[in-house]
This record gives sequence, C-alpha cells and structure tokens, in this order.
Amino acid sequence: MAQGFPLPRNCPFAPPPEYERLREEAPLVGAELPGGRVWLVTRHAEAQQVLSDPRISTDPATPGHPMSALSAKPPSAEEREAGARFRAGQFIDMDPPEHDVHRRMLIPEFSVRRVREMRPDIQHVTDRLIDDMLEQGSSADLVEAFGLAVPSMVICRLLGVPYSEHDFFQSRTRRMVGAAGRSQRDAMAAAMEIWDYLDGLVTEAGRNPGDDLIGRLVTTRQATGELSHDALVGMTFLLLLAGHETTANMISLGVLTLLRHPARLAELRAAPDGWAPAVEELLRYHSIVDWVAFDRVATEDMEIGGQNVRRGEGIFVLGASANRDPRAFERPDELDLRRGARNHVAFGYGVHQCLGQNLARAELEIAYRTLFERIPGLRVVGDDDELPFKYDGVIFGLHALPVAW
Ligand code: HEM
Repeated sequence: MAQGFPLPRNCPFAPPPEYERLREEAPLVGAELPGGRVWLVTRHAEAQQVLSDPRISTDPATPGHPMSALSAKPPSAEEREAGARFRAGQFIDMDPPEHDVHRRMLIPEFSVRRVREMRPDIQHVTDRLIDDMLEQGSSADLVEAFGLAVPSMVICRLLGVPYSEHDFFQSRTRRMVGAAGRSQRDAMAAAMEIWDYLDGLVTEAGRNPGDDLIGRLVTTRQATGELSHDALVGMTFLLLLAGHETTANMISLGVLTLLRHPARLAELRAAPDGWAPAVEELLRYHSIVDWVAFDRVATEDMEIGGQNVRRGEGIFVLGASANRDPRAFERPDELDLRRGARNHVAFGYGVHQCLGQNLARAELEIAYRTLFERIPGLRVVGDDDELPFKYDGVIFGLHALPVAW
C-alpha cells in the first residue's frame, strides 16, 4: 500500500525512493488518493500488460478514471465542459477504434524514414542555437537557450506554427504541467489560450494551406470530411505540447547527467556510434513522464499480477518504477550508457506508445552529440543541490541549467 500519491523524488537521478519497496511488495499495490482508491503498477511485465490490454481504457470520460481521484473535489460543471471541448482530436485520451483512426493519419509523418529526412533540418536548428550561445558570451541558461529551443523549433517547423510565438506557448505549457493539482483552473485557462491560438492558425491554413503538417491535414483530411475543424485543432494541440515539453526536459537533464559522468562522456566523444544506445539509457534512467501519461481504468473485472482488479477501478502505471525493475534490467540503478535496452517504457507500450519517439530519439542524439562536440569545455555552474529541479511538476526536468564554457 502506498502512503500518499504522487510520491516525491528526493534525488534528481532516481525515481521516488518509495518505489523500490512498493515494487518488492507486489506488482500492483493500492494507493489512497483524496478522491478515492487507485492501483499503482510497479513492475515492468505488469506495466506492459496493463498498457496493452484492450479491456483497459485511457479515456478520461470512462467512470473511475484515476485522474479525478488526485483531487478531493469532483470537477465543476465548467471544468467538465472545458474538458469536453478539449476532447476533439486528442487521441492520446481515446480508445480504439476512435484512437486508431486519428493516429493512422499521422504515422507517415513520424516514420523512421521521415525522421531520417528531417535530420539535416534538426542539425541545422541545433547548430544555429549553438552559434547564438557562443556569440552571446561564455555562459547561458541551457534550458532556455538550447534544451527548450531545439524541440520547440523542430515541432514548429514541422507543424507550421511560427516559432516567434514560442514564449506564448511555452509559458502556457509551463502553467499546464507545472504543478499537479495546484491550480486546475489556471491549467485549464492556459490550455484554452493555446487552443484558441491554434484554432486561428487552422482557420488561416484553411484559406491558405502551407507546406507543413497543418497544411497537409487541411487539404488531405479536413477537405475530405475525415477530420472536423476541432479535431484538427486538437491534434495540433497534442503534437505541439507532446513535441516540445518532454524532449526539452530530457535534453537538459541528459546534458547534466553526462557532465556528471565525465569518463563515459569522453568515451562517447571518441566513438559517436555510442550515442544511440546512450540516448536509450538516459530515457530509461530518468523516466521523466513516470506515471502521468499512464492513467488508465479497467472496463471489466480482471486479474493482473495476481490481483483482482474490478471494472471502474483506476490504475496508474509507475513508468519510473517499471524502468528500474531488476526483473527486466540488470543493475537497474546503474547508468550504463552502452546498455541500449529498448524494452524500457519511457515511451510507453501498446497502442499509445509515443508517436514521436523516432523524432525524439533523433533530436536527443543530435542535440547531445553536437553540443559536446562544439563546446568541449561545457560545465555546469553550481552543485546539484543548488539546481532548480522540477520536483514540483508532473514531468521531471530542470527549470534552468546554468552552464559556462
Ligand atoms: C523524450 C521525449 C518524449 C517522451 C519521454 C515521450 C513519452 C510519451 C509517452 C510515455 C507516451 C504514451 C502515453 C500513453 O500511454 O498514454 C507518449 C505518447 C505520445 N507522444 Fe510522446 N514522448 C516524447 C516525445 C514526443 C515527441 C517529440 C512527439 C512529437 C510530436 C510526441 C508525441 C506523442 C503523441 C502524439 C502521443 C500519443 C500517442 C497515442 O496516444 O497514440 N512525443 N509519449
């Protein structure tokens, strides 16, 4: 049984310490939340089982969905109405077959081949940002100057959202993911502001479609009636948010981690083939999304990991616990940059497995490699206990990372 939830992290390089005890206790443990009881999935095998079981729903409208249990107060009529408005096109919150119809339209845009074609552009964006950092002096906040900027620029170019608007959407995203349950109303207001902005952009693309993802969806899907205007806005909203926030946190956290392991960083510099497995290991090791994307609810009575789970019971999969499960990874708490294990669940598992994972891998690999190649003297200013980690947020990372060279 977990005492409270979400459980706090107390070290930037490890999941909440309580996870180990829970994982050894059972693959599924109960947690008493302000709004009711939910299941926490602690082990890797059961995590994959839950994330791929068609009897388990991700739809927030399914009775018993666990997100509502995080707060003692049931959502107000206003919040429910806003939630319903945001539902269109957000296939991360849909079950098959509705989910698959939406996802299928985007698969070619994020395939291995498409991402390979995007690599020169990602490289160009990365180089330009490093040029700017070098031009501006010998120190910077790596989050703002690089970590957040690389994926924001890439997703803006892909979608056809002007990057000049990055302050607007990054600040709203911060309000949305900043603090779990602290101000639902403010998070909702921030989401609505982004939604309204994208609504205008999609309307404009209807009049004058560009050679970008929004333009292609307008001409090939909206014009044929396959996608409504709102569904297109919702898809764009999901891609813009999912496309920058997670990768940004991984870039800064990964850079810090690599700087704290200088011998391994030196090996990577000498043998750049090592970057792909290193990226995989950093994703597993940090598991920045942990439980927040893995909100599920059983739609039938079933048995999982020896536990009877009843219809309507909410489930959170603890991704950060599954990724440190010794049953799936040898020496799971060790950062082994040559491990290259791809069976981690940092990108999820099953039908909702991250659509942007090929893009995220390319961005991380190019960002780390180029940064350390071009700024060999890069160092962090300050000790780990002075750095502003996102202990208060639902996605782990750094608010800022002061660096110098
Ligand atoms: C390091 C970076 C990233 C991490 C750790 C990450 C993690 C995840 C996870 C765990 C899920 C599964 C959610 C679930 O099971 O409900 C997911 C889904 C998704 N991700 Fe990512 N993601 C990253 C980058 C990206 C990027 C760059 C994009 C590109 C636009 C993206 C787009 C999406 C979308 C659209 C979904 C929903 C897929 C579906 O429901 O079918 N992600 N991501």
